[in-house]
Amino acid sequence: MRVGLVGCGNIAGRYAESIAAADGLELVAATDALPGRAEELVARHGGTAYASLDELLADPSVDTVVNLTGAVAHVAVTRAALEAGKHVHSEKPLALRHGDARGLVELADERGLGLSSSPATLLGEAQQTMWRLVRDGAIGTVRVAYAEANWGPIESWHPDPTTIHAAGAMADVGVYPIAILTAMFGPARSATAYATTLVPDRFDLRGTPFSIETPDFIVALLELESGVVARVTASFYVGPSYQRGIELHGDDGILHLAAWGDFSSGLLHSSTGNADDYEEVALLRPGYEGTDWSRAIVDLAAAVEEGRRPRASGEHAAHVVEILDAIDASRRHGGPVAITSSFTRPKPLPWAVGREG
Ligand SMILES: NC(=O)c1ccc[n+]([C@@H]2O[C@H](COP(=O)([O-])OP(=O)(O)OC[C@H]3O[C@@H](n4cnc5c(N)ncnc54)[C@H](O)[C@@H]3O)[C@@H](O)[C@H]2O)c1
Repeated sequence: MRVGLVGCGNIAGRYAESIAAADGLELVAATDALPGRAEELVARHGGTAYASLDELLADPSVDTVVNLTGAVAHVAVTRAALEAGKHVHSEKPLALRHGDARGLVELADERGLGLSSSPATLLGEAQQTMWRLVRDGAIGTVRVAYAEANWGPIESWHPDPTTIHAAGAMADVGVYPIAILTAMFGPARSATAYATTLVPDRFDLRGTPFSIETPDFIVALLELESGVVARVTASFYVGPSYQRGIELHGDDGILHLAAWGDFSSGLLHSSTGNADDYEEVALLRPGYEGTDWSRAIVDLAAAVEEGRRPRASGEHAAHVVEILDAIDASRRHGGPVAITSSFTRPKPLPWAVGREG
């Protein structure tokens, strides 16, 4: 796939590096709404810098757009790319409202184009290993999941926290474990949430004061169709500590993944459920250190070739956006909010397939 990056901000360099390292991907173009950013990126990583999205989309050598703009711009950029006949991988969330996310999935389907979206950390070695153990029955029937997405005050390191705070902690980081849990256990059917803003008035790296309008501490309870109950915490107040993991509780034990975003994360297994016999699990293959940002794009390329949905499908991402909508409605109005959409669950990666074949 020949990739055009749209949005050359904080994360773009890491995407460019992982695209360069991936078989079958090539960075051929970049653009950013701010002058100079795309030029800087291509000077380091190669490709052509375009002054506008329209110019990048007019380049026939670009067959795939990777949308790395801030959350508020995701829908407009993804829609324009699909309308121009490009496959798209979008950073998360696919959209800020479920209706918009569904519209993108329908557009991609109508045009016969591939659409994938982050979060795609399910594709990591540690995450695939945990999923395989679940499928193999290592902890029996899973009934409870605890997931923690505590990212601390992002303005302490991110040079432009505005669009991230506009999306809010659940849409920015809570989505990672939500995507993993729904891929593993199927769609959510209701969300009940509590949220509060602990520190509304903040300072960016330049010392400029700003206020946040989305809660910086949210706890959501998701009831999945399969019967699993998941409690997900997302916070831009609580710092990383040890609270970036997923813990699964089954009838026959516990699995504890230390970090849902780290492909070589520690993974512990207790077969008693008392947590006094935790053992470190060997991953199915050596884990990539950190997050391999290109992995979902490599899978998108294979999906297009094989005529299937990508594992981190737009359809699944749209369901995740409906969950975000339901969490938001519940934290505003109280009580459980129903979730109705579904998606085709992804298959494990070939090296992680087990007894099921
Ligand atoms: N920064 C991270 O560590 C990180 C990690 C994982 C995922 N992400 C996701 O990646 C995306 C980008 O994050 P970031 O931290 O790089 O943000 P950022 O604000 O640093 O960069 C976004 C860039 O997009 C550009 N942009 C905005 N609207 C545009 C448009 N319509 N056309 C062209 N360019 C446009 C901005 O000028 C900016 O340079 C977000 O969805 C975020 O959730 C970021």
